[in-house]
Amino acid sequence: MSDNLGNMRRTHSCCELGREDVGKEVTLMGWVQRRRDHGGVIFVDLRDRKGITQVVFNPLVDEAVHQKAHVIRNEFVLGVRGKVDPRPEGMTNPNLKTGEIEITVTELKIFNTASTPPFLVEDSVDVSETVRLTHRHIDLRRPTLQQNIIRRHQAAQIVRGHLNGLGFIEVETPVLTRSTPEGARDYLVPSRVNPGRFYALPQSPQLFKQLLMISGFDRYYQIVRCFRDEDLRADRQPEFTQIDLEMSFVGENDVMAVAEGMMQALSKPFLGRELPTPFPRLSYDDAVDRFGLDKPDTRFGLELTDISDIVKGCGFKVFASVVEKGGIVKALNAKGCVDFSRKEIDDLAELTAVYKAKGLAWIKVREDSWQSPIAKFFTDDEKTALTERIDMAPGDLVFFVADTPKVTNEALGHLRNHLGKRLELIDDSLFQFVWVTEFPLLEYDAIEKRYQALHHPFTAPLEEAYDLLEEDPLRVRSRAYDLVLNGNEIGGGSIRIHQRDLQERVLSALGLPRKEYQEKFGFLLSALESGAPPHGGIAFGFDRLVMLLCGQSSIRDVIAFPKTQRAACLLTDAPAAASKAQLDELNIRLLL
Ligand code: AMO
Ligand code: AMP
Repeated sequence: MSDNLGNMRRTHSCCELGREDVGKEVTLMGWVQRRRDHGGVIFVDLRDRKGITQVVFNPLVDEAVHQKAHVIRNEFVLGVRGKVDPRPEGMTNPNLKTGEIEITVTELKIFNTASTPPFLVEDSVDVSETVRLTHRHIDLRRPTLQQNIIRRHQAAQIVRGHLNGLGFIEVETPVLTRSTPEGARDYLVPSRVNPGRFYALPQSPQLFKQLLMISGFDRYYQIVRCFRDEDLRADRQPEFTQIDLEMSFVGENDVMAVAEGMMQALSKPFLGRELPTPFPRLSYDDAVDRFGLDKPDTRFGLELTDISDIVKGCGFKVFASVVEKGGIVKALNAKGCVDFSRKEIDDLAELTAVYKAKGLAWIKVREDSWQSPIAKFFTDDEKTALTERIDMAPGDLVFFVADTPKVTNEALGHLRNHLGKRLELIDDSLFQFVWVTEFPLLEYDAIEKRYQALHHPFTAPLEEAYDLLEEDPLRVRSRAYDLVLNGNEIGGGSIRIHQRDLQERVLSALGLPRKEYQEKFGFLLSALESGAPPHGGIAFGFDRLVMLLCGQSSIRDVIAFPKTQRAACLLTDAPAAASKAQLDELNIRLLL
């Protein structure tokens, strides 16, 4: 019986034939990467996901097949049968695995034609991301993207294998659920059968995994899609994937050891090297103090220096008054950058303004003096103290920000990352992990005018801080930890609260009225009373992790069908309008 392949079946992929196969009769199938006509002989580079093989249509071998080959264009889908021949002297291609042979075709099937592609299927092609995402099915034919997606698959296999080996059980949790507070907006799904009510898509499976611990599963994991309606960037998507895990009867060190083992399992095949474990740890306070950010890139120095005590009474009113009001002044010494132009410094000030810094003061250290708009305000003693504290030497350019601790640290932290790249202080071959620990439990959201959990409200406070929950909640540190890789937050977790009374105290400290938290989290509170074991866990941003393992700079390059900055899928044109009938059925009226 014939089928639409004309009884042709592949014998090999397009990457495997070599000199040792000469003389064999083979059948290959794939796409036309390129077609060349050389004095009557037609050459086609045939491509599949494994590689490329040159196939030849020679009129002297088979006139009819050669005739048929004339219509072939880029991206046509072909099946070819023929003989493996050595390439003539001087025609071999050492860059190609199959570069010493070609297939002399005796049978050709054109399975499908293809319209002219909007861009060449090559890595070097230079087209906008909009065009690429609109034609993602073609974009995904490019070798780098194919490799990224295949490596993503391999990473998932490694993670599953590793966690299965440690006795973890993969459990699926609902996608139509209640709001899980992870700090972003929810995606809501209206319920037709419950008019006026909505599901929320999970920002994470946080509460379900805690419930699974209460059910006795002991070690859970899931490679799971999460949904967050937040402002998007190169390392954020509205739907993304977590490697989510939770364990019972553990403390921080146990969870961290599992995480480190998983990173080891990935690093051998992906980076070709073992990672030194345990990974270094930094408290949140130290991370922010030294690097300005809670996700420090520890591959280079350029650390920040607090000079608040030196400048608190100085003649530069901006510095003195900031310190008086409880703010801080910090410095960043860009060694050897004394020749930065005014324009370059202004550009850096613009960068810090993004993080709300009100100015960027600077001092250029010349051989015998300081060149700076603020030098005149300092006494000799202050100058000596600053020189010593900041390690100022001729050739240096020192930057200063004075503001609230949050603004000062963020502005200088981002300036540090920028200068690290620009001054080429970063060794790209390094993979530096660091745990950041002891995060504050809460922070004050000045816009919403209320406290919110820095991690999520189910994170346990450090035991010695319980008493502060009511007195001074901002001073409470938590049992949360983040895993940071080269300045990227790739995972976050915590030891959880497993007692109802403590959970209620934390929800109260967040300013939630009893009625409200009872309504939102009543099911958790009663579960905590039903025999909840001590437990904790972590979730990794799988897309970010794969991005770094593949050496990419955007998570869109490791997601098959990603969304744009405006959360749109250009390929399918989602989100789309809903019909009136659909909206009526859901009792929804649009205000647009
Ligand atoms: P958290 O909110 O820190 O923790 O998320 C865990 C990790 O998920 C990744 N991530 C994202 N990746 C891509 N796009 C996004 N929009 C995005 N948001 C987060 C980050 C982050 O470190 N339930 C807790 C985990 C726990 O406590 O066990 C949680 O979701 O790499
Ligand atoms: P001014 O006296 O306002 O002209 O500022 C003198 C210098 O101090 C300029 O280089 C400003 O960018 C800088 N500056 C002003 N406010 C701050 C601030 N809050 N932190 C750091 N530098 C500042």
